[in-house]
Amino acid sequence: MPVIVLVGAQWGDEGKGKATDLLGDRLDYVVKFNGGNNAGHTVVIEGEKYALHLLPSGILSPGVIPVIGNGVVIDLNVLFQEIDGLESRGIDTSRLRISANAHVIASYNRTLDKVSERYLGARRIGTTGRGIGPTYADKMNRVGVRIQDLFDESILRQKVEAALSFKNQVLSKIYNRQAVKVDDVVTELLSYVERLRPYVGDTALELSDAIDAGKVVLCEAGQATLLDVDHGTYPFVTSSNATAGGACTGSGIPPTRIDRVVAVLKAFTSRVGEGPFPTELHDKFGDHLREVGQEYGTTTGRPRRIGWLDLVMARYAQRVNGVTDFVLTKLDNYDDLDEIPVCIAYEVNGVRHDEMPISQSDFHHAIPIFETMPGWKQNISGARSFDDLPKEAQDFVVFVEERIRARISVVGVGPARDQVIERHSVLSEA
Ligand code: GDP
Ligand code: IMO
Ligand code: MG
Repeated sequence: MPVIVLVGAQWGDEGKGKATDLLGDRLDYVVKFNGGNNAGHTVVIEGEKYALHLLPSGILSPGVIPVIGNGVVIDLNVLFQEIDGLESRGIDTSRLRISANAHVIASYNRTLDKVSERYLGARRIGTTGRGIGPTYADKMNRVGVRIQDLFDESILRQKVEAALSFKNQVLSKIYNRQAVKVDDVVTELLSYVERLRPYVGDTALELSDAIDAGKVVLCEAGQATLLDVDHGTYPFVTSSNATAGGACTGSGIPPTRIDRVVAVLKAFTSRVGEGPFPTELHDKFGDHLREVGQEYGTTTGRPRRIGWLDLVMARYAQRVNGVTDFVLTKLDNYDDLDEIPVCIAYEVNGVRHDEMPISQSDFHHAIPIFETMPGWKQNISGARSFDDLPKEAQDFVVFVEERIRARISVVGVGPARDQVIERHSVLSEA
């Protein structure tokens, strides 16, 4: 039975949560392998809207065991708020598993995220302010606090002391902030220990046993390909590996066990935060798509920047993730348009680029080359098979599919669980 990795093909908010939810009853495990509560996944089930940040979207499917892998950074306050919020709506969260090796977002890292953005001024990244970057920096610097450290108070104290000895200098001398007391941090983190204990384990071992037993495992990325710290538009990225490779390091599942890679591709493009965006729209079309698509951040409420679909980017996502299947979402958001421009290549200083330019400054100067497809000018949200779609919408899907080197297996025509067209099963080749 397969292990599937599900990633975002653009700059996030492609509809990964909905895609995971769609597969929910065919899955045994859903593993979050990167990021933290910078993610925001909206899932709509029977008219009820759920916004998930830290918990894997699989938590909404009763038969799924949700796993927070070692590659995730955890804000414990947010974790329990989210668990309590779901429990109060009748969702059972008791199956959740958390890796003992996942890192903890301490309060000083949330502070540092916010003050360093302010300090950067015009050069800011536009982060979510959740402490993600500083926590991953601690991990790489080997001064991070892991979930397992919380179960040994003296180890925890040593780790927090080590982290704060440097950070307090930075906070007080550079950012003019009060130094943080080791005791306060330790006391806060210890307050979660008893609640945390039943969830924590060796999730890499549990997943290995599950795969041996033939279970179906889906590794769900937060963020997306162009926000990946290695393959994205650095430095305007998040601080983790959101591409398929991150699923291995962030879960402990080895590459030899991965069968399929599904990328979620929105029918247009959005971006939150700073950074280059070749197909960005600053006109009535951008405003229209933002409104019909309700493109406002699930995490920060910021209006998302909007642009036309960019197939150079989609091809790049196919290549770096090894995508086997695409899920094309939000096709219904084009229902009112007369025509739909699609970016098929870039022009940089008079030269055509069919692949992502290697240099970031070329990408900043990339001018999209568009091909324009006719719109269908009707409501497609009731379509449940490819044949239900008007010819122009079918042609649009085929046009995109022919240029992205992998099949489009699912097409989204609305936010609800059943508003999809499944052309192929993403779980198998057939
Ligand atoms: P994620 O971060 O990738 O999980 O995506 P978000 O949840 O942040 O943003 C995607 C939004 O689009 C959510 O509000 C979904 O409910 C919604 N959505 C997903 N697929 C479709 C679709 O096919 N059509 C429409 N209209 N909305 C969709
Ligand atoms: P999902 O999982 C869209 C963006 C932020 C910022 C950059 C770095 O819902 O697709 P960070 O706080 O991670 O250090 O911010 O990354 N960003 C996202 N944009 N969707 C997300 O998650 C994002 N997570 C982070 O806006 O530009
Ligand atoms: Mg989102």
